[in-house]
Amino acid sequence: MAMVCLSDFEAYAKKYLPKIAWDFFAAGADDCSTRDENILAYKRIRFRPRMLRDVSVMDIRTKLLGTEISFPVGIAPTGFHQLAWPDGEKSTARAAKAMNTCYIASTYSTCTLEEISAAAPGGLQWFQLYIHRNRAVSQQLVQRAEALGFQGLVLTADLPYTGKRRDDVRNGFRLPPHMKVKNLEGAFEVCKTSPSFHSLCCLDPSVTWNDIYWLRSLTHLPIIIKGILTKEDAELAVRHGVQGIIVSNHGGRQLDGGPATIDALVEVVEAVQGRVEVYLDGGIRKGSDVLKALALGAKCVFIGRPALWGLAYKGEEGLQEVLRILQDEFRLSMALAGCASVSEIGRHLVQFSKL
Ligand code: FNR
Repeated sequence: MAMVCLSDFEAYAKKYLPKIAWDFFAAGADDCSTRDENILAYKRIRFRPRMLRDVSVMDIRTKLLGTEISFPVGIAPTGFHQLAWPDGEKSTARAAKAMNTCYIASTYSTCTLEEISAAAPGGLQWFQLYIHRNRAVSQQLVQRAEALGFQGLVLTADLPYTGKRRDDVRNGFRLPPHMKVKNLEGAFEVCKTSPSFHSLCCLDPSVTWNDIYWLRSLTHLPIIIKGILTKEDAELAVRHGVQGIIVSNHGGRQLDGGPATIDALVEVVEAVQGRVEVYLDGGIRKGSDVLKALALGAKCVFIGRPALWGLAYKGEEGLQEVLRILQDEFRLSMALAGCASVSEIGRHLVQFSKL
């Protein structure tokens, strides 16, 4: 089967993954309206392409907090990669390094931070944190990540509780017994009463903006906050000293009925006024989606589910193929829109349809 676009990987994953794993990856909250809106919203945005602009030499590189990556697409944090491929997050880390881009490793990885870091020495890796009720657990994770050479700390802000994902409830989703949330092994004696879903009951729903100061006291790493959707929270994020914001609705897995991330991006970018870098995830499925997000002010985007489909197809190689396809499509879209380098991408490139 020729893999031409990201939907081909989606179709493969749907066909070959066990249903319980596919459903977990695909899930959105409630009716999945926000999950689906993330994708539909791109279709309402039209380009204003420019012509005759010498696109014979293309430069698609960019920088994330000063570190160069090969193109403005990284890998969003997602849990349980061993559900997609036996080597799990080690394969993800290798693919990201091979493609010279950033991998945000989830707290809920099925490999340890040590394994992930050793799989791709020198690769650009950020660590995604959920703050746990037992703060010592989170503190230790942050300090382990920094000591291992992770270069950014991504605090996920949109999961005080887990959204209601109907298929996971129906399937009684749980990790198979041979897979573990390895970073947290031993940390959750207090959660013995927790049902199937590992230790998510131990996440701390009392987290507030002040906890950014607490994180700041633990680490020198830049802090990037993930899950921001409004200008008010963007302003608070900047005022609390974060270095980056990821506009995200968790792939539509948390509050159903919120905006598509590409729609929320505009107000966040306007509020931030260049004071910190703004990134986006959610619904990126084509190179032209990446171009639209950059035109509306994102410095870089991240992919969640498409990375899992790539892993499900052929592990590290499959994920590299997904990234390569997005890279080729992004380069082509840029050229057809008349941009030879990322610095030429701007708001002038898009119009919103009146439909
Ligand atoms: C996620 N996401 C997520 N986010 C996070 O901060 N920590 C995590 O552990 C996870 N886990 C996770 C698992 C799965 C299966 C999915 C699909 C998503 C959210 C993720 O980082 C990202 O916001 C979305 O996946 C982006 O949307 P797309 O690219 O999947 O449309």
